Amino acid sequence: MNRKFDISITVFLNGEKQSIMTYQGEYRNLMALLYDKFYIEDFGECKGTGRCGTCHINILNHSEELLNKEGNETTTLNKMDFVDSNSRLACQIMIDKKLHGLQIEVV
Ligand code: FES
Repeated sequence: MNRKFDISITVFLNGEKQSIMTYQGEYRNLMALLYDKFYIEDFGECKGTGRCGTCHINILNHSEELLNKEGNETTTLNKMDFVDSNSRLACQIMIDKKLHGLQIEVV
């Protein structure tokens, strides 16, 4: 099947800015996408249960809706350092077209 890569996400990682393209359904969530594209060491240790906090990102430019926490996210973030109001766990963000234009920083 020929898929259209119609979701663009800008990622700031280790001081570098990179753009990645994906489409709805290519990856289960943003954590899986970032892990696959960048091979970040120790990223996503709990495989998306929202408990390890290793997939911590900051949302740089998107809507309030994307700042709403899911599941275990608030509990996990409250135990961590360097958390602010833009913090999210990438594993709790599903890949869909609403993410197009998103800018994030991997913490
Ligand atoms: S992968 Fe563990 S909290 Fe996201």
